[in-house]
Amino acid sequence: MEKILIYGGKKLSGEVNISSAKNSILPIIAASILCDKECVIENAPMLEDVFVICEILRILNSNIKIDEENKRIVIDNSNLTLAEPSTELVRKMRASFLIMGPMVARFGKFKISLPGGCNIGTRPIDLHLKGLAALGVDINIEHGYVEANTSKLKGSNIYLDFPSVGATENIIMASIFAEGETIIENAAEEPEIVDLAKFLNSMGANVIGAGTDKIRIIGVKELKGTVHKPIYDRVEAGTFMVAAAITRSKIKINNVNHEHVKPIIAKLTEMNVDIHTMGDSIIVDGNRDLKPVDIKTMPYPGFPTDMQAQMMALLCTVNGTSIITETMYENRFMHTPELKRMGAKIKLDGRSAVIEGVQKLTGAEVKTTDLRAGAALILAGLAAEGCTKIGDIYHIDRGYVNIENKFKSIGGNINRIEE
Ligand code: EPZ
Repeated sequence: MEKILIYGGKKLSGEVNISSAKNSILPIIAASILCDKECVIENAPMLEDVFVICEILRILNSNIKIDEENKRIVIDNSNLTLAEPSTELVRKMRASFLIMGPMVARFGKFKISLPGGCNIGTRPIDLHLKGLAALGVDINIEHGYVEANTSKLKGSNIYLDFPSVGATENIIMASIFAEGETIIENAAEEPEIVDLAKFLNSMGANVIGAGTDKIRIIGVKELKGTVHKPIYDRVEAGTFMVAAAITRSKIKINNVNHEHVKPIIAKLTEMNVDIHTMGDSIIVDGNRDLKPVDIKTMPYPGFPTDMQAQMMALLCTVNGTSIITETMYENRFMHTPELKRMGAKIKLDGRSAVIEGVQKLTGAEVKTTDLRAGAALILAGLAAEGCTKIGDIYHIDRGYVNIENKFKSIGGNINRIEE
């Protein structure tokens, strides 16, 4: 069993390069289903979740070449078929459901296992299905499967009760070839939506307004091949920004789009962390007297839920009382008991966590419950006195490329061990 072993208390220094965004490349690989010409993705992050979605497309007879050394993925979907990916594979990763929209757009029908919830929440798909139905798709849910059928996709006006990222992405992809115009209101505004639209438009689609809460898609007949370089991962960048703060160090982070990490810069600045932007790099100096803050996770451009666990780890080390409110998921505090094993003082009350900063965290044996909780435990381990051993690190490999080597390259005493 692989574990991560950290001896904490060391200052970090130097610079680290951020990889491309997991939450951008997953919908983009799904969107390649819409095109029967070759699509190339450059600077692709070689992540577990990327391998899973490629495995699912291969079951649909997609011809995918993954060149790990050059970080390139070449996808040829000219011979795609209507196969049925196994439930076990689909349930490995919720984002698998993102192939529903493009498959229905291409074949007029598709059947896939319900993605099911995950550790952080029930993760419903009602908004995805409502959007597909509005486009003229018949949806049937039985025996744990979603079956979609349509004779013709027609553009429609869709209002999302909640600015769901996945629902926005699925509806955009489903409407690419629909007759007429589709309008999505109260759409998600995340940078990953903008990147998906850029990918689709580079293939000849007509997606207007991505990045705002109103997106228009004018149906086209077909798409051509393209070469695309996804945006950098704003959550990985934020994780390293917090690493500088929690170890009270100064580091340089390269490959950062400052606009995408604005809510994180604002919150860390409020804590008295010193942050300078320089081109597509950012210099973060946490070696200061940090202040407690309150955080409420919100859809973009609010504070990202995917940075909540990492910020909780940081606030555990900051003198004073901080309050975190998690509005996006009903169960995204599973890192709390693990942080408490390291001496953190946290009280949970429904969707809020009250954190009392402590003088120091102490190393302990802890378990990863989900991707970002794992990142938070690494951050806590880097700051804690003594040795921290983190189990179930497969969660972390889903969303971070080579995480221990990246931290090692900036001075972290961190290793992946076999136990
Ligand atoms: C995406 O998930 C990200 N994943 C998540 O990142 C991220 O936390 C989330 O967006 C919010 O930013 C990918 O992009 C692959 P949602 P997604 O649909 O699309 C409600 C990570 O750590 N909802 O915006 O599933 C539901 O309550 C992962 O990288 C419905 O009610 O997020 C959900 O909790 C974790 N009905 C909330 O919206 C629906 O049909 C946010 O979901 C869909 C969503």
